[in-house]
Formats: sequence, C-alpha cells, structure tokens
Amino acid sequence: MAGKKQKTRCVHVNAGKGYDILIREGLLSYAGEEIAKVCPKAVKAAVVCDANAFVPHGEPVEGDLWDAGLSCAQYILKPGEQNKNIGQYADLLSFLAESRLTRDDCLAALGGGVTGDIAGFAAATYLRGIPYIQIPTTLLAMVDSSVGGKTAVDLPAGKNLAGAFCQPSLVLCDPLALKTLPDSVFRDGCAEVIKYGVLYDREFFLKLKALAENRTSGQSLKQAMAKDLEEIIETCVSLKRDVVEQDEFDRGERKKLNLGHTFGHAIEHCSNYGQSHGSAVAAGLAMIARAAARKGYMDEADARLLEETLQLYGLPVDTEYQAEQLAAAAMTDKKASQYAIDLVVPRSIGNCELVRIETKDLKEWIEAGRPW
Ligand code: GLY
Repeated sequence: MAGKKQKTRCVHVNAGKGYDILIREGLLSYAGEEIAKVCPKAVKAAVVCDANAFVPHGEPVEGDLWDAGLSCAQYILKPGEQNKNIGQYADLLSFLAESRLTRDDCLAALGGGVTGDIAGFAAATYLRGIPYIQIPTTLLAMVDSSVGGKTAVDLPAGKNLAGAFCQPSLVLCDPLALKTLPDSVFRDGCAEVIKYGVLYDREFFLKLKALAENRTSGQSLKQAMAKDLEEIIETCVSLKRDVVEQDEFDRGERKKLNLGHTFGHAIEHCSNYGQSHGSAVAAGLAMIARAAARKGYMDEADARLLEETLQLYGLPVDTEYQAEQLAAAAMTDKKASQYAIDLVVPRSIGNCELVRIETKDLKEWIEAGRPW
C-alpha cells in the first residue's frame, strides 16, 4: 500500500458550507496557518483539548496559532466518555462566553472522539454556532468521529442523546500524532478502519488483514501500519465522505456506518463506559457477522474471515454480557424505537444492508451472534 511520499492529501466534503479534510504527516506544525485560511476574520481561537492530548499537542498547536496571528483561549476537558456530559458541556459554553469569543472567532477541537463530540456541540450551539476545526489525535477520531458533523453529549438515559448536526470548517489529520498513542487506543481505531472495509470495500479489508498478518516478529501494529496510515485514513474518510454527502442527516445510507455499533453501544453501556468504544465495536462487528451467517444473510466463511482479522488486530470478538442485558441496553440507543430497530447486517465483506427488526427479536439476534 505504501507509495511514493505524497504532498498533503485532501478530501473535500460537500456538506454544510463544504470543507476539506487534510491528511499529512507533520500537518500539526501548520495548524495555525491552515486554520487562519478557513477563518480569515478570526482574532481568537478557543483550543479545546483533553488532558491526554494536551501534553504532546496542546502547546505546539497553540504556539502555531499565535504565530498565525490568533490569540488562544485554552480549555482542558476531563477525558473519557464518562465526562461527555451536560455538566462539562455547560462549563465549556461558559468558558467560551467568558473568553468573549465572537462568531468571527473559532474553536479548535484537539483530541479524540469525546473531545470532538463535546467541543463540536459547544461550537454548534454557542452564539447559535461558531466555526470549528477538528484536529483529531486518535485513529478513531481521524477516520470517523471528526468527519461528518455529528456532535453530541450523553445523557443519563443514553449515549449521544443531545446533539446537533454541524459540519466543521476544516479537519486536520496528522498521522504523526498517533505516535504517542497507547497501543490499546490505536487498536480501538483499527476496529473502525476494519468496519469501512466490511461495509464498502473488500479489497481494502483484505489489505488490512494482510498488513496485520505480515507483521514481523516484535513489530507493533502501529509500526506495521505507519507507512500506510495516510492512505488508510484517506480511504476511510473518502468512503465516509461519500455517505455523508448522500445522507448528511442520517435518514438512510448513513445509518450503515452504525455497523457493529448496536451491539457495541450495548456493550459499552453494560460496562458503564469502562470498555472502550473501539473494542466494543469490534465485539459488535464479530457478533453481527456470526448472527448474519447463522440467519443466512452471509457466508460463514466471510464471518470467520472478519473474526480472524479482528483477532489479528488484537481486538475482542465477544462479550461476557448476557443477551438479556445487551438487548435492554441496546434499547437506550437513539436509533431504537419502542417497536423496531434497524440493524446493519453484512451480506458479505464489502456489502451490508439495513434490516428492520422488531425489538422483541433483538435478544434472539444477540444470541445468534454468540461464538460458534
Ligand atoms: N459515526 C457514524 C456517523 O458519523 O454517522
């Protein structure tokens, strides 16, 4: 997959006012310059960063913003899904007001998916909307949550229950930022990367499998993937861009991006968000594939291929929670109505469909997804 070193890769998304996703190693060193280009009237940037991302990236990005002529107001978020709540969101809004940000200014969300979601929601609602820039520092955020304009916080009743569709003005993906990520957090992002292959691109999926398989002994996943990361991110965000342009507001095709997430979100909920999103999605992917095979939607060979690939990436393929618990948790999903839920069911690796099932049948689908 690795080719000649490219210049900045650019994927344009025609949603909202339209924006670019820029991908390049070392891009964070030019963050200020790139942000000033898309926010020419801004005099101030609120840099919203989680505590984990701040140490390696906060000061360099802020320094760069100052060099580009923007003053910075820094807000450090408490990390983790447990903190993606109304309390922290309200506190962030007050901070933006106290910092006297205007609609000409901008917000930069620097961190993983939680940071992007909560900071994006604050940007979408403060002064009825100010421009914001996503600067994802995890693989998961680069390939999924920073793209497409979904912003949200969780409510006690469930995940992402309060939010807004609001597209960013720019997304800056610098694969070098992943160097400082713990391996487990990097692996989490790999679950979302694999998801795109299962949804839309068998060849891409097989390349991902080969990358993990051909690792030399002692080589970490991150090391094995390093030279291909720009291309992998570009492939994922291009696939997501095509979906978002078709269905920005999640009425049809975009629901397919939820592959593995109905069971995955249920696992996260049962673990009280102690289990990471990516690892829960991995288990959810394997479960829906086995259920699809047992119910005659897909060949068992493809379900096993997916399971094997997730395992090559060191990701889980099952959960300890009972079907009853998982079914109850899945009902807190915002996509579930009282009577029916749309499951994303693989037909083969590279082709999935939405299947509407009655909620009373959910438990049986979960049971069908148990290990062979
Ligand atoms: N993360 C799924 C979506 O953006 O629709």
